[in-house]
Amino acid sequence: MLRRPRRLRANRAIRNLVRETKLNVEDLIYPLFIVEGENIKSEISSLPDVYHFSVDMLEDEIKELVELGIEHVLLFGIPHDHEKDPFGSEGYNDNGIVQRAIRKIKEIDSNMNVITDVCMCEYTNHGHCGILTESGYVDNDKTLEYLAKIAVSHVKAGADMVAPSDMMDGRIKAMREALDSEGFEHIAIMSYSVKYASTFYGPFREAANSAPSFGDRKTYQMDPANSDEALIESELDILEGADILMVKPALSYLDVIRRVKDNYDLPLAAYSVSGEYAMLKSAVKNGILSEGAIYESTMSIKRAGADIIITYFAKDLAKMLKNNM
Ligand code: PBG
Repeated sequence: MLRRPRRLRANRAIRNLVRETKLNVEDLIYPLFIVEGENIKSEISSLPDVYHFSVDMLEDEIKELVELGIEHVLLFGIPHDHEKDPFGSEGYNDNGIVQRAIRKIKEIDSNMNVITDVCMCEYTNHGHCGILTESGYVDNDKTLEYLAKIAVSHVKAGADMVAPSDMMDGRIKAMREALDSEGFEHIAIMSYSVKYASTFYGPFREAANSAPSFGDRKTYQMDPANSDEALIESELDILEGADILMVKPALSYLDVIRRVKDNYDLPLAAYSVSGEYAMLKSAVKNGILSEGAIYESTMSIKRAGADIIITYFAKDLAKMLKNNM
């Protein structure tokens, strides 16, 4: 035998030397859920080891992230129920929950890269990601104005990057123009370009109290059966000015991640969503899988082509990477 691949698996150092894909703590973005109120740090029942934080309780969490080397957070705001209305107005309140959280995080550590999820479902009383027509259809073009207002308000509060997750047509252009007209042309947009109508968001909707009160999101989020469409969505976002593309969810869509990566040169993010986290976490907690499954599955997302990974496992992964797993 002239060729023996096992030679390069002989010991740990050699394996490290020839490793093709390297997961780094710099690749990771950690989602944070911010709630109204004071003195709140409460575990989210659908997402074990992930917490709701009130703004005043963010300090320890941010410091822990910094210590672990995690430099990016993705913020989700959860307003009071009575603050929700058909237009999601609380979403662009300059003193809203996300806006206050941004200011607080920047005060705790100005180097933390604060990315905000821009969407309306947490702020509308009907739970849809936009403004409804009388018949209950999400009015695309009307929604764009509101999304742009939310994005501008986040950036005014100090956000470093905005991440629209609504899946309206034309939102990147609308947001880009609004940001530019306010003098924020230096702020990047990480677009949830390829976002599927996925059952894997279930635990998140419980955490964010954002499930639609009627119907589903299939008229705006993508059909899980489609992958050519992922290229159309990516291309449109690039033409409209997106700086980073994203595929979401990740684990059931590794083929889509690879296709987008092979076709476009923009940095590509993948969102390993709440359902993926909940599945793996419960298997590990119950002793069915070892912790290595977390590393292996996140590695598979990177190997598929993601440069950036948004994951609730960011802290676990940072610890594993520190221990040179
Ligand atoms: C808001 C939004 C959702 C997620 C991120 N942004 C929920 C949804 O579209 O219903 C899901 C994230 C996760 O499941 O971890 N539109």
